[in-house]
Amino acid sequence: MIRIGAILVGLFFAGVVLLWSFSQGAYTHFTEEVEKGPEYVFYIPPKSPEGGFAHDGAFGKWDLAQLQRGYQVYKEVCAACHSLEFVSFRNLEQIGYSEEQVKAEAASWMVPGINPDTGEATLRAGLATDAFPSPYPNDIAAAAANNNAIPPDLSLITKARKKGPEYVYSLLAGYEIAGPQGYEHDGKVLSEMFPDFQTVAPLYFNPYFEYLNIAMAPPLVVDGQVTYSDGTESTIPQMSADVAAFLTWAGEPSMVERKQTGWIVLGFVLFATILAWLAKKQLWSGLKSAKRKD
Ligand code: HEC
Repeated sequence: MIRIGAILVGLFFAGVVLLWSFSQGAYTHFTEEVEKGPEYVFYIPPKSPEGGFAHDGAFGKWDLAQLQRGYQVYKEVCAACHSLEFVSFRNLEQIGYSEEQVKAEAASWMVPGINPDTGEATLRAGLATDAFPSPYPNDIAAAAANNNAIPPDLSLITKARKKGPEYVYSLLAGYEIAGPQGYEHDGKVLSEMFPDFQTVAPLYFNPYFEYLNIAMAPPLVVDGQVTYSDGTESTIPQMSADVAAFLTWAGEPSMVERKQTGWIVLGFVLFATILAWLAKKQLWSGLKSAKRKD
């Protein structure tokens, strides 16, 4: 009796919530077509580079040569605006540089320091323990130098965006330098569907960016912009994939190890399950037919 009463009370409240949701537009939410803006129609979700990344999949591995090329792109191009505050020079040993190389590499960077004689802020050569510095003293200076947009730190960018590695690759390789005029995707012409859509300087048109207009000028603009020491041809998609792989490593250096540990743990869990099952069989074998009497 009490149970039926409780169910009725529950139904009553559920009914009230249902009725209330109609007053909030629940019905029209499903029936009315919402007007779709250009960001909805022309945004393209991240794509993988051709052939994918070496770190993809459950058996993924780092491609150290690619990570080193990506580091070169970061150093020669991206570091002009972006820091990597959670990555230290010594971490580069993980992508195949020796201790000596890392020391020399660190010394080729200037990092913020203090003049020991005057106490004034100054720049000094980097040490292996320093993190990749921001080129700007603070966010205000960063915004001032970039038309009010602050270049984000890239240490965790592949974690902070959905399909991060693919996103960074697509964003860099996907600028439409000609702008939105005449831009066509999937048979739809942007300027015909949205005549009001504009890309006004200092913004740049990039369909892989959620808002289509991004405040970062295309950083990779010509094939051969970076000269790779391993002889790889540095096309824009190649440089984009390389730096995306490097930033994936920067965001999760232990990714490959994590995947390998996963397999070991799975194997162990399987083994433990079999053991437990055998033990259960053994322990219960004598009791199988004995019924419990209360
Ligand atoms: C001239 C300065 C400059 C250079 C060089 C530069 N960036 Fe940027 N970057 C920016 C600015 C400014 C933003 C912020 C854009 C915005 O919010 O609209 C940005 C944003 C980004 C974002 C974040 C986009 C998002 O989803 O919020 C990524 C990723 C990025 N840059 C990667 C790179 C990489 C990789 C390189 C090197 C190949 C690079 N950038 C070179 C200025 C720069």
